[in-house]
Amino acid sequence: MATNNPSLILPFCVLHLLILLLPLPCHRNILTLAAEGGGKWDFLLPNIGVSAMHMQLLNTDRVVIFDNTDFGPSNISLPNGACRNTPTSQNDCTAHSVEYDVASNSVRPLVVLTDVLCSSGALMPNGTLVQTGGFNNGDRNVRIYNPCNNNSCDWQEISLGLNVRRWYATNHILPDGRQIIIGGRRQFNYEFYPKSSGADRAYSLPFLSQTNDPTIENNLYPFVFLNVDGNLFIFANNRAILFDYVRRVVVRSYPTIPGGDPRCYPSSGSAVLLPLRNLQAGANIIAEVLVCGGAPRGAFASARNGTFVGSLNTCGRIRITDSNPQWVMETMPMGRVMGDMLLLPNGNVLIINGAGSGTAGWEFGRNPVLTPVVYIPGNPIGSRFEVQNSTFTPRMYHSTAILLRDGRIVVAGSNPHISYSFTRLFPTDLSLEAFSPSYLDSQFAKLRPRIVSPGSQSKIRYGQQLAIRFTIPPGRLNGTSVMVTMVPPTFTTHAFLMNQRLLILSGGSVTVVARSTYQVRVVTPGSGRVAPSGYYLIFVVHQDVPTSEGIWVQIS
Ligand SMILES: *[C@@H]1O[C@H](CO)[C@@H](O)[C@H](O)[C@H]1NC(C)=O
Ligand SMILES: *[C@@H]1O[C@H](CO)[C@@H](O)[C@H](O)[C@H]1NC(C)=O
Ligand SMILES: *[C@@H]1O[C@H](CO)[C@@H](O)[C@H](O)[C@H]1NC(C)=O
Ligand SMILES: *[C@@H]1O[C@H](CO)[C@@H](O)[C@H](O)[C@H]1NC(C)=O
Ligand SMILES: *[C@@H]1O[C@H](CO)[C@@H](O)[C@H](O)[C@H]1NC(C)=O
Ligand SMILES: *[C@@H]1O[C@H](CO)[C@@H](O)[C@H](O)[C@H]1NC(C)=O
Repeated sequence: MATNNPSLILPFCVLHLLILLLPLPCHRNILTLAAEGGGKWDFLLPNIGVSAMHMQLLNTDRVVIFDNTDFGPSNISLPNGACRNTPTSQNDCTAHSVEYDVASNSVRPLVVLTDVLCSSGALMPNGTLVQTGGFNNGDRNVRIYNPCNNNSCDWQEISLGLNVRRWYATNHILPDGRQIIIGGRRQFNYEFYPKSSGADRAYSLPFLSQTNDPTIENNLYPFVFLNVDGNLFIFANNRAILFDYVRRVVVRSYPTIPGGDPRCYPSSGSAVLLPLRNLQAGANIIAEVLVCGGAPRGAFASARNGTFVGSLNTCGRIRITDSNPQWVMETMPMGRVMGDMLLLPNGNVLIINGAGSGTAGWEFGRNPVLTPVVYIPGNPIGSRFEVQNSTFTPRMYHSTAILLRDGRIVVAGSNPHISYSFTRLFPTDLSLEAFSPSYLDSQFAKLRPRIVSPGSQSKIRYGQQLAIRFTIPPGRLNGTSVMVTMVPPTFTTHAFLMNQRLLILSGGSVTVVARSTYQVRVVTPGSGRVAPSGYYLIFVVHQDVPTSEGIWVQIS
């Protein structure tokens, strides 16, 4: 098993020392929730054996984590004394993928045979992870991971499952349950998985060559979101299109983001589809995308020359459902490249990890940004960002973050080196850390709802009435501030969370069932265009404080 690395434990002790020395914060009421300095950091495991380059949460409350099979040895052995040979790694007896079990806070090694470096993935409607592509001997492979609760599941490899090589591509689950795999290095096209027929091929997408700078390729890992009309919003480099993948036509071209700087890999900013509401079939849903951070044009070439240019501190927000939409620019409290943007269960956006200068790519990040910020989409411009408590751990190139069912964010990885190195600047990081947003503070326990029914793993249908029962401590209910949200589990890599969306369910009138027990009636999303079928977490949110834990539902 993985052993403790003393250098990774040290910051934890320092953190505790600081807490003892600091005066206790004075009483804060709900109005100051997520005020400056909110949130708290904990180390979960000092050493999980691999550096978490990719993470996917499963409906078993386990997280599949994988790195790169051609790096040389990791720090965790393959199960049963197994070893493998690849063209670049002879007799490697270490694992390059692990499964993290939230309940037991432990990892077990998994066996991935071919190279998964800088790849992509999405869950199928039944919860099975489909991972696509990678590098070297793995760039056309598909790998399947069927979740299990008994530690018996592992990767299954499908050789040549893809039409073309996919390295730095983006996947999105579609309303029909397939996934689309878009782009990748020198691939100006897309394909689907599973294949609908033997004739299914890679289809050209000229937008990807139009946004490609041949020397820098600032359009990798494009930001892809399923719009509420069923088309795909695809942002690459510094602009976006709305794409109808069925008829293979560009429906709309969005303006270039003001300033024109690139936001995609290696100038890695990040992006989210902001919370969607009013979701019943036939409703006029407004969808907005927020793109934050990145590196200025030329930053990659400069980093190659040893000059690390300050990161972009701007975000652009755009209503992608408008017929003539315009970007509205905002300024973050600090610049950030390689940050991860996560939708929190209460509809706020967490921006976490990353660097203050340089770019993505081996050895190209500097000035780690240790301070997350929360973005509150509904606040007026100018008062949307709230600076959070800092960590001590740099999480830059090849770091990741993912939302758990209990509302915490697991943060892991960071390895700017071409193999594991614990001595170079910004050493390979094998630790697993959690950021608990301020809504998890014990001071909000009196407001926190707990879901009583339905039970986790329930099946729901589209456009269905759903009654959710929850408890809140006696006398604390504010019935006008109860909201029900639905979030799918995401695939995170390279500062982008694929398949991320948050649905605010309509309805919401609260009735009393018994002392401290209430019921809220909501309507589930109207179609697979709004919520592709599959697993979601449902949270009841009361005065901005989400239930901890959410429940798993499967919509179809
Ligand atoms: C920062 O985090 C520590 C624990 O990690 C917590 O005790 C403290 O309250 C946090 N600071 C604020 C201002 O919330
Ligand atoms: C993990 O690292 C520790 C400390 O460097 C080392 O003692 C141990 O052998 C390593 N384990 C594996 C499986 O590489
Ligand atoms: C999900 O579906 C796929 C493809 O049909 C199948 O291979 C897999 O076993 C299924 N997974 C589960 C968990 O049922
Ligand atoms: C583990 O659970 C799966 C179902 O999730 C089952 O198919 C399999 O037989 C179980 N394996 C063992 C060793 O119990
Ligand atoms: C990097 O260095 C090369 C060779 O000296 C030079 O031609 C190029 O202009 C430099 N690029 C930047 C962005 O500084
Ligand atoms: C109840 O919630 C509403 C909506 O968030 C808010 O405007 C109101 O001030 C809250 N009432 C109390 C007593 O906290």
